[in-house]
Amino acid sequence: MDDKLISKFNNFKSQGLSIDITRGKPDAAQLDLANDLLSMNIEPFDGNVDLRNYGEPFGIQDARALGADVLSAPIDNIITGEQSSLMLTYQMMLSKYLFAEPLSWKDVEAPKFICPVPGFDRHFRMLEDFGIEMITVPLIDDGIDLNVLSDKLQKNSNVLGIICVPRHSNPSGEVYSDDNISKLFNIGKKYSEDFLFLFDHAYLVHDFLPTKDQTAVWKLAEQNSTTNQTVVVTSFSKVTFGGGGLSFMAAASDNLDLIKRIRGSMVICPDKVNQKRHTKFFKDLSAVRNHMKKHADLIRPKFEIAYKALEKLDKNVGEYSQPTGGYFITFKSQKPIASNIVELCKEAVVLLTPAGATHPYGKDPKNNTLRIAPTFISEKELEIAMDVFVTAAQMAHNQG
Ligand SMILES: Cc1ncc(COP(=O)(O)O)c(C=O)c1O
Repeated sequence: MDDKLISKFNNFKSQGLSIDITRGKPDAAQLDLANDLLSMNIEPFDGNVDLRNYGEPFGIQDARALGADVLSAPIDNIITGEQSSLMLTYQMMLSKYLFAEPLSWKDVEAPKFICPVPGFDRHFRMLEDFGIEMITVPLIDDGIDLNVLSDKLQKNSNVLGIICVPRHSNPSGEVYSDDNISKLFNIGKKYSEDFLFLFDHAYLVHDFLPTKDQTAVWKLAEQNSTTNQTVVVTSFSKVTFGGGGLSFMAAASDNLDLIKRIRGSMVICPDKVNQKRHTKFFKDLSAVRNHMKKHADLIRPKFEIAYKALEKLDKNVGEYSQPTGGYFITFKSQKPIASNIVELCKEAVVLLTPAGATHPYGKDPKNNTLRIAPTFISEKELEIAMDVFVTAAQMAHNQG
């Protein structure tokens, strides 16, 4: 092992660092962009609706109209909920599990779901909660590898649906093409008229560089006659405040009835005061987009810092994604050393998302995929964290 590398690493270890790049969170400067929400005065009444009381279970009119604009779906298909799109997704799954017709998911024998990889650990956790087996399909440049998808569907019965992030996929940043989404609709529809297309559009408005055009997923579902099988969610968690924004869902027919039913058992109504504040802050999608340009200006330099460090690594050590939006960089090592890199970084107290988290059951078969979340920490800390990462990756490669 190169002595210079080891002494560099030992020097990091002696610095008493404590840096966490595990989760994709906005930093304080990004949150400051929405501070007007903190002091915004609103009237207690919105027309006849008393915002302070129960009522409007699917969201106030303005907030549903904003959701319709954001998701390009008719307002009648929109639910505007509380702060978490993940919760809306969970509620959708739970309602399918308990009440889906003709057969509730709990009564399906050996139920399965398609999960593109690398993917989002909380999606995997949710499916595990419901005892649904996850079948992985790789992501390629323009979306899902449809050949592998078709093959896996042919080989498996009782596949209930797919959950995917169609723009700036978490963590590898793919932006699905219209063609990829349309073909996905047709493959899934042919497989089963109950196959659920669950699109988690968490990064719908989170471009920080020019991004290829994408027709709204709901519009593509209309064109492919799959709205009855399609659910799209998004939220303002990384637009205004994490845990303090709004969430939106577009759904139709049975799925819309199911989400209304399950939510009726759980929440009498969402926080209408916060909804009103948000619709005063953002009149429409174009106001949201203008706001997101300010986020982009804060995020972009962080990604550039990360690239500057990563480009020092030889391609035979590993390669990294360069997304045009979202919150993550994916590093793929050539050798199966992802867990070693995480361990080495931990020795220097630079915390990374555990190796394997990008795959169902925490098992990355190649042990080579890591997620780097550069947004939350300061630029100075990020420079140090990336220096540690690159050193650790080189050491693990030399050892491996
Ligand atoms: C793909 C994806 N979906 C959902 C979420 C969480 O969204 P929310 O705060 O609206 O529940 C995240 C946050 O990291 C995410 O990356």
